[in-house]
Amino acid sequence: MQQTIIYCGVRELYIHETKHVQEKLETPYFLIDKQKLDDNIKDLKNALATCWNNYIIGYSVKTNSLPWLICYFKNRGIFAEVVSDDEYNLVLKLGYAKDKLIYNGPIKSKHTFLQAIKNGCIVNIDTEREISWLKSLCNTGQKFEVGIRVNFDLEAYCPKETLMGDAGSRFGFCYENGELLKALNNLKAFNNVKVAGLHFHYGTKTRSLNVYQAIARMACRIKSEYDLDLKYVDVGGGFYHSMSGKPSYMDYIRVISGELSQAFDVTKTKLIVEPGVSLVGTPISFVSSVIDINQTIANYFVITDGSRINIDPLMNKKQYIYTIKYMDNTRKTMPTQVISGFTCIEKDRLFLLSNHPQLKVGDQIIYNRVGAYTMSLSPLFIKFYPAVYVKNNNKIIKVRKKWTSDEYIQKSRFEMLE
Ligand SMILES: Cc1ncc(COP(=O)(O)O)c(C=O)c1O
Repeated sequence: MQQTIIYCGVRELYIHETKHVQEKLETPYFLIDKQKLDDNIKDLKNALATCWNNYIIGYSVKTNSLPWLICYFKNRGIFAEVVSDDEYNLVLKLGYAKDKLIYNGPIKSKHTFLQAIKNGCIVNIDTEREISWLKSLCNTGQKFEVGIRVNFDLEAYCPKETLMGDAGSRFGFCYENGELLKALNNLKAFNNVKVAGLHFHYGTKTRSLNVYQAIARMACRIKSEYDLDLKYVDVGGGFYHSMSGKPSYMDYIRVISGELSQAFDVTKTKLIVEPGVSLVGTPISFVSSVIDINQTIANYFVITDGSRINIDPLMNKKQYIYTIKYMDNTRKTMPTQVISGFTCIEKDRLFLLSNHPQLKVGDQIIYNRVGAYTMSLSPLFIKFYPAVYVKNNNKIIKVRKKWTSDEYIQKSRFEMLE
């Protein structure tokens, strides 16, 4: 387990500066390091510009749909990759141009699906029902473009790497059993709808370069076999970046572009990537405080105002990357301490400290690299959403206030039926 122990006067560390007020930050809260976010985007753009200088980046909104982040990406020319009518409406409300969206996944609504196609978004068909919805575009006198999500046996090319293994992915149209060809033929029947792109996305355990090599090869194969004229190949997300010992954006894009160049012309076909975790994972931390100690016959429980539901909502991570900030350096060593969350769930225990300085009320525990699938997956269980701050140089601004009962009950009705 990775950790750093810092002895310092925590209360002086994080100051929220507004024009005239200096406010102490109250834990728990998420903290976004804008510089790290900037660096991740710069690295991705650089890799794409170097290897395939005809590209679109679509930020995977589900990974962290914090409004500030969505606006941040919008202002940097990055498309929003959305997968539901709610996400679609959210990004439009936040000012996204109506054609700067990538619309994916099986839970699109018919209305937003058709609207997105008419607006010129990149819309990747995932299901049969979406093909049937296209009927409403016939007889409009206009021409439209869609992409199609490919389901292929990635496990056969990258054994033991995919998340679902032999059970296979449940998304998109299967290449091996002819469903993809059938869908392409059904789409051809609409003479005003053209298949302009292939979409792939695979969740894998390894996020390895092999995975992207297999995906890019499959894109080449499908293009050649079905004689497709494609404006884009969308390889999805699932990358690592800025993690030591793991591939970087440059490594991935080099492999992808090397394969794509066998069948595609960089001037005619765009490469689309849909990163989530690799962009927002590392720049975001979660700051919690020790609020109490409970010494029992079995253990020394350190109770904090953070929880596994904040940084690991599915409660399946085996370890967290954290920093401990002690208020002073006069601590005796404790044989064991169980760092625990605020919920009433017994297994809300974050980690065990062995032979470490004793934690006391007021010390802080900061969990690092927790920007992905945390804020957007957290339940409103026991405590409502915590505040979010953005740090840039020495300035910190609050970009989301802590939710209160006001936000929780908004739009509720209270008339009784008896
Ligand atoms: C279609 C699609 N694109 C992109 C992503 C983002 O993946 P990641 O956060 O691993 O980069 C996902 C995540 O599930 C996805 O389903």
